[in-house]
Amino acid sequence: MTAALGSPRLHLRRTDSTNARARDLAQAGAPHGTLVTATEQTAGRGRQGRTWFAPPGDALLLSVVLRELPRLLPLAAGAAVAELCEAHVEPVALKWPNDVLADGRKVAGILVEGRPQEGWVVLGIGLNVAVDLADLPAELRGRAGTLGLPADALEPTLARLLEHVAAWLRAPEAAVLAAVRQRDALLGQPVSWGEQSGTGAGIDADGRLLVDTAAGRVTLDAGEVHLGRSG
Ligand code: BTN
Repeated sequence: MTAALGSPRLHLRRTDSTNARARDLAQAGAPHGTLVTATEQTAGRGRQGRTWFAPPGDALLLSVVLRELPRLLPLAAGAAVAELCEAHVEPVALKWPNDVLADGRKVAGILVEGRPQEGWVVLGIGLNVAVDLADLPAELRGRAGTLGLPADALEPTLARLLEHVAAWLRAPEAAVLAAVRQRDALLGQPVSWGEQSGTGAGIDADGRLLVDTAAGRVTLDAGEVHLGRSG
């Protein structure tokens, strides 16, 4: 039996990072489903040491403490967010492992951090619900996306998002893989990581990215994979 997500909830008007706050709570024993949200983050964290920016009050910035950890959790979270976005925008795709793209623009980012060996992680999600792209710094404006909803849609969207996440966390692995493969933004596309490059060739049964290179097929666990330029 998987508990609902979102209770207890701590909402902060302004914080450095909801993931940092949720980590503190997790380490202090907060239960599965504990939710931290913020109107504004001053040091939002992204994957691979990047930062995450959203104009205050226009995006969902949330972190959930999880103590029930499916093997494909990062992919399941991506499937949940993508499914939610599809109610508002199309087409929606997933750039492995879990960037959510709406019409090719990144509308949501997911950061899973924690100590799975101690039985907990924090699932952080930033979703541009009501962001006006004109309010973003120039370097983000060209690649960020938005659901284009009004700011008063944030709370109802949060409630629906938590339902989608809870459902996908208990979904069978085959369903998670199918959901991700169906929306695979890298399939057949140029992919580069470090000095290497190839063509996206799907996602394996362990949720790893397959890439065809001149030297044969390789399998990537996670990390520094960038969608290459086409043409
Ligand atoms: C990424 O795509 O690089 C992941 C971005 C994750 C951003 C969210 S916003 C809420 C939560 N708190 C953080 O500091 N980061 C995540």
